[in-house]
Amino acid sequence: MSQSMPEPTVRQPERRGLFVVFEGGDGAGKSSQIPELAAWLTSLGHDVLATREPGGTEIGESIRPLILEHGHGDVDARTEALLYAAARAAHVEQVILPRLRNGGSVVCDRFVDSSAAYQSAGRELSKDEVLAVNAFATQGLVPDLTVLLDISPEEGRARRSSSRPGEDRIESEPDGFHARTRQAFLDLAAASPERYEVIDARLSKREIQERVQSRVAELLAERGEQGARP
Ligand code: TYD
Repeated sequence: MSQSMPEPTVRQPERRGLFVVFEGGDGAGKSSQIPELAAWLTSLGHDVLATREPGGTEIGESIRPLILEHGHGDVDARTEALLYAAARAAHVEQVILPRLRNGGSVVCDRFVDSSAAYQSAGRELSKDEVLAVNAFATQGLVPDLTVLLDISPEEGRARRSSSRPGEDRIESEPDGFHARTRQAFLDLAAASPERYEVIDARLSKREIQERVQSRVAELLAERGEQGARP
């Protein structure tokens, strides 16, 4: 057998609903865009859940402060990666997959790419290892579309400090860490452009919203679903 045989890829779980994820650096504005997309899809007749990571389940929301708050002692990079993955496993199994299988749509604030960007590029863990842990956690589920709101570390920090005081454990990492995560997101998008919409987070909220809707409308058209552009 050839040594260059590719690793078997994890089979995508079957589902019917649309799965859209928003990614981007801290301060990129995901939290104002997600409700807009959810409301727009709802107006087209989709049954939409907006959710977030880490979180979205009881156990996930309990894990969230453990990873994000200061004050739990040292959190080494592997432990951090596994905590994010554990929250994600619960989210996929308990919430996301059941909804997608029933034809509901899910709009999620962050997913596996955040672990590739923050735990692998940011914390400098092996990308293959982080992705392997996450393939196990997600049962191989891949979003239909990922909207990447691209922002520089400097701009992200400036926006965060003007919107609320204090930074969580990840946000308080130096700009070099955030520069690596930004590049990792851009590299992931460049590797699979058919699954990503990269948008400059400096555009107005309205412009970002329109670009997201237009890309999702294209996706719905490809799937022969309502909301497709005429
Ligand atoms: P987020 O909810 O976007 O932050 P905020 O509450 O400030 O809007 O994400 C929480 C933080 O967790 C963010 O700094 C990114 C980080 N994160 C990871 O490092 N890895 C992951 O897998 C996920 C989902 C988030």
